[in-house]
Amino acid sequence: PTPAAAHVNTLLASYPDFPKPGILFRDLNPVFADAAAFRSLIDELAGRFAGKFDAVAGIEARGFLLAAAVGYAADVAVLAVRKGGKLPGAVLSEEYDLEYGSACLELEIGQLAPGSRVLVLDDVLATGGTIAATSRLIGRAGYALAGVGVVLELTDLDGRSRLGDAAVHTIVAL
Ligand code: PRP
Ligand code: MG
Repeated sequence: PTPAAAHVNTLLASYPDFPKPGILFRDLNPVFADAAAFRSLIDELAGRFAGKFDAVAGIEARGFLLAAAVGYAADVAVLAVRKGGKLPGAVLSEEYDLEYGSACLELEIGQLAPGSRVLVLDDVLATGGTIAATSRLIGRAGYALAGVGVVLELTDLDGRSRLGDAAVHTIVAL
């Protein structure tokens, strides 16, 4: 395993039946709370896509933590993709399915030059609905999807199949 994967394997916490029965909740906060582990995540994500992105987009909420740090490390712009209803002005919206019902993610327009290469970052790739909606936002905003980086991929749910030909980097696949 990579240094980051070794940290995740050691520090990842799992909680059965949270937030509801039948869900095994994967808690990455202990990884983020360990300075060397957090640094290793950022180094791996920034290194994998080095030279290939002009901006990072973090998905609310936990993707913000990764995007801020990768953006700083790579000296690039940082975009916040937010849950619906939180952004002012001209925004693009994309709906995506949840287990029950649907949700919406939004991006403000006009923040980057057209054609900017955007690396999308989030903590977990599960069904892929969240990242698929974000990649639609990136495309509609006139940017190019440079790739997708996540800390954990839950392979049973096959979220990757919803991401087309995007370059997806996963630190740990479970
Ligand atoms: C979790 C996780 C990912 C998403 C993955 O976020 O942080 O963003 O689910 O699921 P998917 O691949 O099936 O779409 P959640 O929506 O729980 O919100 P949060 O990050 O604000 O806690
Ligand atoms: Mg999330």
